Amino acid sequence: MANSLYIIPFTPYLSLQTKLTHIIFSLTKFLKYQLSVLLHIPISYTFTFFQNQNQSKTEHKLCNSITMESLFRLADQGNAFSSRYIWVNGPIIVGAGPSGLATAACLREQGVPFVVLERADCIASLWQKRTYDRLKLHLPKQFCQLPKLPFPEEFPEYPTKRQFIDYLESYAKKFEINPQFNECVQSARYDQTSGFWRVKTVSSNGSNCNEVEYICRWLVVATGENAECVTPDIEGLDEFQGEIMHACDYKSGEEFKGKKVLVVGCGNSGMEVSLDLCNHNASPSMVVRSSVHVLPREIFWRSTFELATLMLQWLPLWLVDKILLILAWFLLGNTAKYGLKRPTTGPLELKNTTGKTPVLDVGTLEKIRSGGIQVVPGTKRLTYDQVELVNGEMLDIDAIVLATGYRSNVPSWLQESEFFAKNGYPKAPFPNGWKGKSGLYAVGFTKRGLSGASCDASKIALDIGKVWKKETNKPKKRTTPGHRRCISIPAVLDFSL
Ligand SMILES: Cc1cc2nc3c(=O)[nH]c(=O)nc-3n(C[C@H](O)[C@H](O)[C@H](O)COP(=O)(O)OP(=O)(O)OC[C@H]3O[C@@H](n4cnc5c(N)ncnc54)[C@H](O)[C@@H]3O)c2cc1C
Ligand SMILES: NC(=O)c1ccc[n+]([C@@H]2O[C@H](COP(=O)([O-])OP(=O)(O)OC[C@H]3O[C@@H](n4cnc5c(N)ncnc54)[C@H](OP(=O)(O)O)[C@@H]3O)[C@@H](O)[C@H]2O)c1
Repeated sequence: MANSLYIIPFTPYLSLQTKLTHIIFSLTKFLKYQLSVLLHIPISYTFTFFQNQNQSKTEHKLCNSITMESLFRLADQGNAFSSRYIWVNGPIIVGAGPSGLATAACLREQGVPFVVLERADCIASLWQKRTYDRLKLHLPKQFCQLPKLPFPEEFPEYPTKRQFIDYLESYAKKFEINPQFNECVQSARYDQTSGFWRVKTVSSNGSNCNEVEYICRWLVVATGENAECVTPDIEGLDEFQGEIMHACDYKSGEEFKGKKVLVVGCGNSGMEVSLDLCNHNASPSMVVRSSVHVLPREIFWRSTFELATLMLQWLPLWLVDKILLILAWFLLGNTAKYGLKRPTTGPLELKNTTGKTPVLDVGTLEKIRSGGIQVVPGTKRLTYDQVELVNGEMLDIDAIVLATGYRSNVPSWLQESEFFAKNGYPKAPFPNGWKGKSGLYAVGFTKRGLSGASCDASKIALDIGKVWKKETNKPKKRTTPGHRRCISIPAVLDFSL
């Protein structure tokens, strides 16, 4: 495989001195290649280094000092024939969901170039590919917008999934965010010797599979709290003959018309999938194995979330919890009567301590009351067409939707254990879990949805921007992504053999 190291230049205009440097490097590389062929020894790769006339002395000095020596060191450690190597002049953001986009937009405002790596072929893949059709934001739009661009005026209070995706598309366009799609990060580790992050990706383009290693100084983890689906270990799951899908693959109840569907889980997904199935004339049975806080989405025509946020400014959390529960009882009645026992800890405290989100009711409770949705206790085992529940009851079922939640995938690729815990979340709780050591950052792991991600993104961009400006000693200016420049530069950059 071709073997090359790109160094992302600041602008594509090359000075005479730079061109001479290229020629010298090309010649060196050519001679090195000839020598290696003659002596039958593998060559280690060479790299190109670009300086341009628009680059300030400081920028040049910075690049020179941080690249030359360290990169030679990296080159010596590399596996000569396995990868392309790309030097990124600025941070790498892993993930092009709302968190990655928000960070990129804030960095753009700071004049810091960046590269966004995304495993899917689009931005916001969770929203575009892994959510059901009827999904709407649960919180009012002002709590879900990303930094520096409000939702359009004409959007409703609770935008639909399509509207949210449109908003994110225009967000990426406005801030000129062009992620590297189909690039899945396989590993990332900090190289103590060189002082750089080494980020390995596998990119798939049709039948081709390419490995690339990016080298950068800052790494922003934006792969989300919902990167992988959680599939429970239920006895007999393999024996079951009907359709089994995770909620991330569920689109609509249309295909389940007339069927008996077991929905495992009663978080926001389980509740909404059950409602959707019921609306499409299927017969859902929703498994509630423990307890759950169900709150009305609105209280006295005001969003419950907004009301809680307002009360928290004046009252202690325990009191706000008590008030919410009294109001919920007043509006929804005793949910335990329908099999939805409440946890002993209040909804906000539970969210703060365990991250478990209360369910905001958008009509499911009414369907439960009217018998359209059956609430059942935990599952014991499955047979080829039935489920045995923990109370011994047997239910006939045609299909299963696993609304059993998601998890972070950070431990599977980030080789670091000081900042991130084993569960894939930063060890320090909100608001301190955004910054690690050695240029490592995390965005969107606050268990506070989109508003938490926006908060992290602004802090990260300011932090990196401060260092960037200090070291480049340049006034704030707009830049285009460093990596795109590299790609757009003609073949002179590609010194691969
Ligand atoms: C059904 C559903 C509804 C939701 N509704 C709301 C809501 O109304 N309000 C709210 O605030 N929150 C909601 N959330 C929470 C949701 O997590 C956030 O809204 C938001 O999507 C988080 O953005 P993110 O960028 O952190 O993560 P994601 O949106 O998950 O984006 C992460 C990106 O990283 C990419 N990625 C992962 N691993 C790699 C890798 N190794 N290499 C390269 N790329 C990678 C993924 O493909 C993905 O595109 C909802 C979640 C779900 C599942
Ligand atoms: N419109 C919206 O805004 C919207 C819609 C959907 C989701 N979301 C968000 O997306 C995130 C994920 O929500 P989610 O509902 O998919 O996941 P979740 O909140 O993690 O809920 C998972 C559910 O599955 C249950 N479960 C797990 N394993 C089980 C098993 N073996 N048997 C029975 N039950 C099992 C859990 O029960 P236990 O509690 O007993 O563990 C829980 O009820 C949340 O932040 C949520 O708020 C938002």
